[in-house]
Amino acid sequence: MTRTKVIAGNWKMNCSLEQSQALVTEIRGMVRDERNNDSEIVLCPTYLALPSACKLVQGSSLFIGAQNCHSETNGAYTGEVSAEMLNHLGVSHVIIGHSERREYQNETNAFLKEKVISAIKNNLVSIFCLGESLEQRESGQLWDVLSRQLSESLLDTSVTAKNLIIAYEPIWAIGTGVTASAAQAQEVHSFIRNWVAQHFSVEMAEETRILYGGSMKPDNAEELLSQIDIDGGLIGGASLKPRDFVNIHKLAK
Ligand code: 13P
Repeated sequence: MTRTKVIAGNWKMNCSLEQSQALVTEIRGMVRDERNNDSEIVLCPTYLALPSACKLVQGSSLFIGAQNCHSETNGAYTGEVSAEMLNHLGVSHVIIGHSERREYQNETNAFLKEKVISAIKNNLVSIFCLGESLEQRESGQLWDVLSRQLSESLLDTSVTAKNLIIAYEPIWAIGTGVTASAAQAQEVHSFIRNWVAQHFSVEMAEETRILYGGSMKPDNAEELLSQIDIDGGLIGGASLKPRDFVNIHKLAK
């Protein structure tokens, strides 16, 4: 079975509203002129830029994702935005469980599960992130950590291959310039796919897209994207450079 690849840009806390609009417009133009495959593109700017980004991609093949959502629909949660609000805006995807939020906002697996449930209820595709620290990897905890992240956030939810994309982001490779080797990434992606097969179904495992994130760039993307279980990338730094981002997309066949 062939899974349509996904190239997603996580812009993190970067770009003013004007810069975000310019970036969306530039990427849209480049993709229109140079698109040479069917892989999906998701752009995830800050909340501030979501309304105009949704408008700017209308009539194109680009999707807009948020970098986070809250688990509740509304209420006294100062500073938060709900999945329902994002859906009303025209946002189609939401990143859930990025390691930066797990670390700086103390987001737990249980809380992330509530977000996944809310995203499903509001027709958003969750880009669910997981990954280990270097210390966890070096002390032999890799599989335990990943299993717990998967089990505690995804079991007993109605995730499907349509409303879920999984992103493996080893923390030690994020923003560091260090990339997991293609073999290291493939090993983990294969583990995640087996986990989905075991806990949901073989069919769902075959259809679920699993992205790699962590210093993906045009010069390492080809090897990573050619691995059998790597179905795309969740890209930070290089997603802010339109030429690099579109070049990675062109490699995602
Ligand atoms: P970098 O591509 O900058 O390493 O960031 C990866 C990431 O965190 C994407 O969510």
